[in-house]
Amino acid sequence: MKYARYSTVIIGSGIAGLYAALKTEQQVNLADGLLLITKSKLGESNSRYAQGGMVGVMKENKKDSTQAHISDTIKAGAGLSEFNTVKFISENSDAVVKDLLKFGVEFDRDENGQFTYTLEAAHSVNRVLHAGGDATGRAIEQALCEQIKKNSNIDVYEKTIAVELLVSNDTCKGVIVFNEVTEEYETIYSSCIILATGGVGQLYKYTTNPSGATGDGLALAYNAGAVLQDMEFVQFHPTALAIDSGECRFLISEAVRGEGAKLVDADGKEFMHKYHPLKELAPRDVVTRANFNERNVYLNAACINKTLLAKRFPNISEKCAQHGIDISKDFIPVAPAAHYFMGGIKTNLHGETAVKGLFAIGEAASTGLHGGNRLASNSLLECVVCAYSVAQYLKSDELKAPKQIDEEIKSAIDKYSDESVFLVEIEVNKDELRELMWEHVGILRSEKSLLTAKEELERLRRGFPRSAKCLNRGEYEYKNMLETAGLIIDSALLRKESRGAHCRTDYPQTNEECIHSHTSLAPTWEREQFCASIASARNAGEG
Ligand code: FAD
Ligand code: SIN
Repeated sequence: MKYARYSTVIIGSGIAGLYAALKTEQQVNLADGLLLITKSKLGESNSRYAQGGMVGVMKENKKDSTQAHISDTIKAGAGLSEFNTVKFISENSDAVVKDLLKFGVEFDRDENGQFTYTLEAAHSVNRVLHAGGDATGRAIEQALCEQIKKNSNIDVYEKTIAVELLVSNDTCKGVIVFNEVTEEYETIYSSCIILATGGVGQLYKYTTNPSGATGDGLALAYNAGAVLQDMEFVQFHPTALAIDSGECRFLISEAVRGEGAKLVDADGKEFMHKYHPLKELAPRDVVTRANFNERNVYLNAACINKTLLAKRFPNISEKCAQHGIDISKDFIPVAPAAHYFMGGIKTNLHGETAVKGLFAIGEAASTGLHGGNRLASNSLLECVVCAYSVAQYLKSDELKAPKQIDEEIKSAIDKYSDESVFLVEIEVNKDELRELMWEHVGILRSEKSLLTAKEELERLRRGFPRSAKCLNRGEYEYKNMLETAGLIIDSALLRKESRGAHCRTDYPQTNEECIHSHTSLAPTWEREQFCASIASARNAGEG
C-alpha cells in the first residue's frame, strides 16, 4: 500500500471536477497540494458527450432574465426544485460563462461576434449557449483539460478508481484508490474530498451515458454516511438514436427539436399535439412518455433549412450518415434512453454533504436545482456554478492534510493492504442488472415491478458477495451499481405518487401534499426501515 497527503482531492474529471480543480488551485491556499483523480483518461466522462449546450442567462441577452429562467426551471421541476438553489445558480450564470471564456472555452457566435442562443424544451426563450454546433461538452472539456495539463500545481492520477472514503467521527479524512494499470492501492489522506463522479446511466439497458456512469460516487458517499436525496428521479431522454452501437446509444439532441424538427409515427404522422400543448418542446418527461407510448417513433428534421442543419448539427449529421441516414431528408429512428440522474448526494450551495470534509458537485450531487424533471442544459450550468462555489467556500481556510491518523481509519485501510487475501474472479452480471432496471425501474414503475426488481437484485447481490476489496475496476463498478440500484428502487417505492420523471402506474396522480417533499436515504438506518423521510422543505424561503 502506498500513501500520500493532499490538501484537496477531487474525484472525477468531467466538467464539474475539471473546473473545480482549476478554481480551487486559483483561489485556495493549498499547503499540501491538489490531486485530481479519474478512473478513466483525463476528461473521459458524460461531460464530453454533451450536445445541446449550456444555459447562459447572459446580461447582454435582452430577451432573457434570471426571473424567466428561474420560472422555467421551477415549472419543469414538478414541485421539487428549491427556489434558493435555482436563484443562486441562475444569478451566477453570467459570471461563470465569462470565467469559462478566460479558460479558453469558445461558445458559438454570430457574424457580429455575439453569442448565438438556441431553444430547448420547456425554455421560454432562446438561452442555450453551444459550442462546435452540437459538441458543447467536448469544447468545454477540452479547453479545461488543456489548462489542467499546463498547471503544475495540479497532480493528476488517471486510470485510478476511488474505492472507499475514510471516515471517522463523521469526518472524511481520506480516500483509498486503486490503479487499474499497476494494480496497486494507495491511501490518500486529505481533509477535503470533492466527489465529482457523475451519474448512473449505465444502470440501464438503454442509455446515452458512456461506460463510466456507474454511480460510484453515490455508493461511496452513502457508505461514508452522507444523505442521498430523490434517488427515484432518473431522467430518460426522449430521442436517443434507436440503433444499438456499443456501450450506449447516441443522442439526437433536443436542440434539433428546438430548431423545428417534428416527432412522427411510422406513417409519418405527427402525434405530440395529443400529449401537450407545447408539442415537441413540452417538458422532457412528457415527451419521453409520449415516445415510449407510441413505440416506433422518428424525428423528422427535413423541415429545417439544409444549410442550418449541417452547420448546427455536424456530429449528429455525421453519426446518422454512418448508419445510412441523411438527416436532411430521412426520418431518424429515435427511442427513450436513461440520460441524467436528478437525485444524488444531498448538498448545500457550497457542495457540503452531511459528512464533514466531504463535498459533492455536478451530476453526483442533489442541490435541489432540477427537482423531478431537469430542464435541458441546466446540468452543465449547475456543474460550473457549484464547482465555482465550492472553491469560493474553501478559500477562507488554509487546507492541510490531516496529521493524526486514527484507529478507525487504519482498520479500513487494512482490508485493502492485506496481501494474504486471495480473490477469485466472480461473474459480473452488468447486462442482467441493466435489463432488470430498464424493465422494472424504468420510465413506468409500480409497486409490483419495483418489488420484482428488489428480489432480482438480491439474487444478483448473493452472486457477488464482495464486501470491500475487489479484483479489478469492473468489479468495483459492479459493486457500486448493485448498491446504487438498490437505493433507486427503495426510493421509488417510497414515493407513492407520480411526479416529473417518476411515473408510478399504480399511483398515476400527483399528490399535491407532496409538493417540495424530498425522499432521503440515510445509511445509519436499516435498509428495510428506509421509511419515507419525506423531509418537509416547505419553507417559504426554499419553496
Ligand atoms: P461526468 O462528466 O460524468 O464526469 C464524472 C467523472 O468521474 C468521470 O471522469 C469519471 O471517470 C469519474 N469517476 C466516476 N467514478 C469514479 C471513481 N470511483 N473514481 C475515480 N473517478 C471516477 N447537460 C447539459 O447541460 N447540456 C447538454 O447539452 C447535455 N447533453 C448531454 C448529452 C449526453 C450524451 C449526455 C450523456 C449527457 C448530457 N448532458 C447535458 C448531461 C451532462 O453532460 C452531465 O450531467 C454533466 O456533464 C455531468 O458532469 P460531471 O462532471 O458531474 O460528471
Ligand atoms: C440534448 O442536447 O438534448 C441534451 C441536453 C441536456 O440533456 O441537457
